[in-house]
Amino acid sequence: MNVLIIGGGGREHAIAWKVRQSVKVGSLFCTPGNAGIMRLCEPVPVKADDFKGLVQFAKRNDVGLTIIGPEAPLCAGIVNEFRNAGMQALGPDSRGAQLEGSKVFAKQFMKRHGIPTAPFETFTDPATALEYVKKKGAPLVVKADGLAAGKGVTVCRTVAEAEQALRDAMEKKVFGDAGREVVIEEMLEGEEASVLALTDGKVIVPLEPAQDHKAVFDQDQGPNTGGMGAYSPAPVVTDTVMREVEAKVLKPTLEGLKKEGMDYRGVIYAGLMIKEGRISVLEYNVRFGDPETQAVLPRLKSDLVDVCLAVTNGRLEKSMLSWDKRAAVCVVMASGGYPGPYHTHLPINGVEKAEAMRSILVFHAGTEMSHGQLVTSGGRVLGVTALGKDIATAIENAYKAVEAVHFPGAHFRWDIGAKAVE
Ligand code: AMP
Ligand code: GLY
Repeated sequence: MNVLIIGGGGREHAIAWKVRQSVKVGSLFCTPGNAGIMRLCEPVPVKADDFKGLVQFAKRNDVGLTIIGPEAPLCAGIVNEFRNAGMQALGPDSRGAQLEGSKVFAKQFMKRHGIPTAPFETFTDPATALEYVKKKGAPLVVKADGLAAGKGVTVCRTVAEAEQALRDAMEKKVFGDAGREVVIEEMLEGEEASVLALTDGKVIVPLEPAQDHKAVFDQDQGPNTGGMGAYSPAPVVTDTVMREVEAKVLKPTLEGLKKEGMDYRGVIYAGLMIKEGRISVLEYNVRFGDPETQAVLPRLKSDLVDVCLAVTNGRLEKSMLSWDKRAAVCVVMASGGYPGPYHTHLPINGVEKAEAMRSILVFHAGTEMSHGQLVTSGGRVLGVTALGKDIATAIENAYKAVEAVHFPGAHFRWDIGAKAVE
């Protein structure tokens, strides 16, 4: 069977690496890809945002499974195009994708279906929102409704910060149309974890839990990024917590989708806050997490293609997923300056040396080939994943490999996984 992957980051490299291991796969295609992905995949002469063109390409090339990596095409309806053409793609259609594409929709959905989440209000009028903030007092969290590349959420410790966040989103429109409406919610405390699950619309099966590191610097300091590293399993998600997540979040989410007439076949990612065993949903994503996927998929023993086909064909069973007991840690190496402005086209060296180390996988994110040299092309450049008998060993392995890789200005956190060891 031929497989098509849409996307070009570390997540898609991890997906491509895993799909390549399936004996069923003939040709593997990807667009737009990156230097690491294109060592495993054939290019697609169609732009990643030309959905009709992609459907035609998939038909012509006998593609039996399309896996969509990022949220933007899901929200823009790529799966609707595939389904209308009688083809299956892993991911929700544009209605289901609102769980990520609209924070207002997601919060109201959780409220309708009794899923634990921070109390909130929604606003379209800046004056009313400002008044509410003054009345409520800090701390508060202000969230732009729409997709804002992970930057639409501001955790505000003071009323002044909340006022600034509202002005930025609603008046200055720094997130464009995504800030037309906002959610204002209570700030929660605790430890965060990511539980990704697969659903075929009938059953919902969690993957092994993971934890991301959103802040750019050690000890969670500095501005938020797309994610500076991840590890799996996440000890904060004990067996008891996982049972709670299944009973109070995953099952009611699937029931809610069904009740609202949504045929959702893909990934549901619940971003959780956990405090003393109590869980609350911070956000939904409708796709694999990045960089969580780079820590989770290396631990999956099952054939990912079989699992994805079971999802798209409505035949998913819990027993299809089996896991490597070892831990995985992924350290993201980023461009100097990220998440602010950064330079690109800087030469990267040492990747082969890192890859030759035991239990190491180097997933490319922002890389390309230029005149035979691997160079940087994005903010997050590489994700160096290591397996180990426990998290501490995986951390040690990961940083040995990270130290073998060099590019000018490279920066990364030194404390990925540290919370799991404490
Ligand atoms: P989101 O995109 O909704 O996951 O928000 C991004 C980040 O903001 C989360 O990973 C949390 O670190 C933080 N955050 C979101 N909502 C809250 C909340 N209600 N309380 C505390 N932190 C939050
Ligand atoms: N790791 C966070 C995300 O994928 O959105």
